[in-house]
Amino acid sequence: MFPLRRNRRLRTSEAMRSLVRETSISPNDFIVPLFVVEGKGVKDEIASMPGYYRLSLDNLVKETKVLWKMGLKSILLFVKVDDKLKDNAGTEALNPNGLMQRAIKTVKDAEPQMVVMTDVALDPFSSFGHDGIVGGGKIINDDSSAVLAEMGLSHANAGADFIAPSDMMDGRIFEMRTLLEDEGHHDVGIMSYSAKYASAFYGPFRDALDSAPVNLKDVPKDKKTYQMDYANRDEAIKETLMDIEEGADIVMVKPGLCYLDIVRDIKNTVNVPVSVYQVSGEYAMIKAAAEKGWLDHDAVVLEQTYAIKRAGADLIASYFAKDVVKLIS
Ligand code: PBG
Repeated sequence: MFPLRRNRRLRTSEAMRSLVRETSISPNDFIVPLFVVEGKGVKDEIASMPGYYRLSLDNLVKETKVLWKMGLKSILLFVKVDDKLKDNAGTEALNPNGLMQRAIKTVKDAEPQMVVMTDVALDPFSSFGHDGIVGGGKIINDDSSAVLAEMGLSHANAGADFIAPSDMMDGRIFEMRTLLEDEGHHDVGIMSYSAKYASAFYGPFRDALDSAPVNLKDVPKDKKTYQMDYANRDEAIKETLMDIEEGADIVMVKPGLCYLDIVRDIKNTVNVPVSVYQVSGEYAMIKAAAEKGWLDHDAVVLEQTYAIKRAGADLIASYFAKDVVKLIS
């Protein structure tokens, strides 16, 4: 065929390349995770996530307005809870006047069109740092699911558009969907962290919320009895299909970069939107290497975002969302 076929003809200029580019990125692709704390005027940089902050409600409102102006239409809320309010059952998570519930109301009042999603898991509220209730040397599945469903309901009552269970208990999507329907929240959606791996890349997030599992003598200090084994691939499909059957509207693969094979498998298998969470450790790695001058921050951020999209992500939860929107506009 050569020289009749020369692939480089399609690469001769940026204009030419842009015409044949297979993947594109827009602000519609992003969900922006935000960390919320008590107080006023607080904008507290997270040590292991340079350039990312814990915000009090007033600053949360400001940030939400900035995001909306940039075309970013969805946020995913996480709260940092005072140690004094933590217990094994995550009781504070159900407080109708808790920080999360106030955050949802405040943001929906200030920017009603913003799609507000909320993390549903007990870890920030748990004295043991686990996503469910600990008992008898285990994370008790069904009791945890029941509390998590109540937690999701309480977010829906506060005005959340979508709840995002990140806990990996079995059957929790069914419990949540059923409870939301029973209580009349027919339009509140569920974005399930369906293929969530037991990953070492969540470290900076656990710093941000002070939510790492604690030492217990009869329970391992990791989340491997509920989050997935990173050696597994078929299991991700099984988890995801089950969550869809149970009522998930959007499914998720988490983390991103190390799991792009899973993203593609799932994209090829399901017919609901697939989201990918580019997690805190992925953010921290790029920041650290860029600070040292070893990597070109913006170039690497764009490359990774395109890679996640190319792999099959319809949505990306990313700490780089603002950076990317600036870079592409
Ligand atoms: C809570 C939760 C975690 C993340 C999102 N929701 C931490 C964990 O499961 O330990 C991680 C997000 C990130 O690292 O950016 N269950």
